[in-house]
Amino acid sequence: MDKDFHIFPEQASTLAGQVDMLYYVLTGLCIFFGMLIFFLIYVFAVRYRRRSEDDVPRQIPGLLKLEIAWSIIPLGMSMVVFFWGAKLYFEMYTPPDDALEIYVVGKQWMWHIQQPSGRREINELHVPTGRPVKLLMATEDVIHSFYVPAFRVKKDVVPGRYSTMWFEATKPGTYHLFCAEYCGTKHSQMIGSVVVMEPVQYQRWLSGNTGDETPVAAGEKKFQQLGCITCHGDKPGSRGPTLKGLFGAPVQLQNGDIVNVNEDYIRESILNPGRKVTAGYSPIMPTYQGQVNEATLLQITAYIKSIGTTQK
Ligand code: CUA
Repeated sequence: MDKDFHIFPEQASTLAGQVDMLYYVLTGLCIFFGMLIFFLIYVFAVRYRRRSEDDVPRQIPGLLKLEIAWSIIPLGMSMVVFFWGAKLYFEMYTPPDDALEIYVVGKQWMWHIQQPSGRREINELHVPTGRPVKLLMATEDVIHSFYVPAFRVKKDVVPGRYSTMWFEATKPGTYHLFCAEYCGTKHSQMIGSVVVMEPVQYQRWLSGNTGDETPVAAGEKKFQQLGCITCHGDKPGSRGPTLKGLFGAPVQLQNGDIVNVNEDYIRESILNPGRKVTAGYSPIMPTYQGQVNEATLLQITAYIKSIGTTQK
């Protein structure tokens, strides 16, 4: 760490510079107009002050051109800020297709993280530079919020659904990781670090694996242990639809709706199978609520994705 004074944290992701630029422009606009208004208040107060007891001001009917100008110019400026912000927002919330996927489970009061290779970490996240990274996040208990100031990203992790977030790190180093949502007594201790490494170093770090199974392999095992395979076994006449080639594909439901199969749909179908039943099948699947935790759900999801990615 250098001893220079910083107002902002370091910029360590592809988005950081863009977020800061927008923020600088917004701050600049506020300062400019704030100063302009204060300046004019004083100028007008002095210039148009009442000079004598019988001073009667001249009546001014209004100046249409001026009124249009001070409506149109701020409108234009706020629209520029709006579209700029919206563009950045969509960019931040749409992970690239080729992103490296890492699983995150928040739990009072720590972050459990699993790399695609299977390597697990607690309160530490290792990522390579120059590669988009997508975090698929869930929580075992209350709302937590995954926050990496140096990347300018923050996302709430809400019970009952998956949250995703993505970034591309640009600079090797170690950066703060915070939980940014008050989640109980030790919320302030739910902190850690993100370690950004050159791709070669990252590969080396990954290969120092402690023998953990990959999420896909673990998910496949669970898929068999929990008996999912009995009904979703990809045989003709099975009681449940096959899951091969399912991920990312549209599925027709009993009520005629079409859903796109994503992580949240898989999760919902495991915990609440009667909700969105595939057309042509009966709602006979029991719920797995209480039998699988978030980590297991993520593994099963990883497995279903691995046998299911059709397009791309
Ligand atoms: Cu988790 Cu605050």
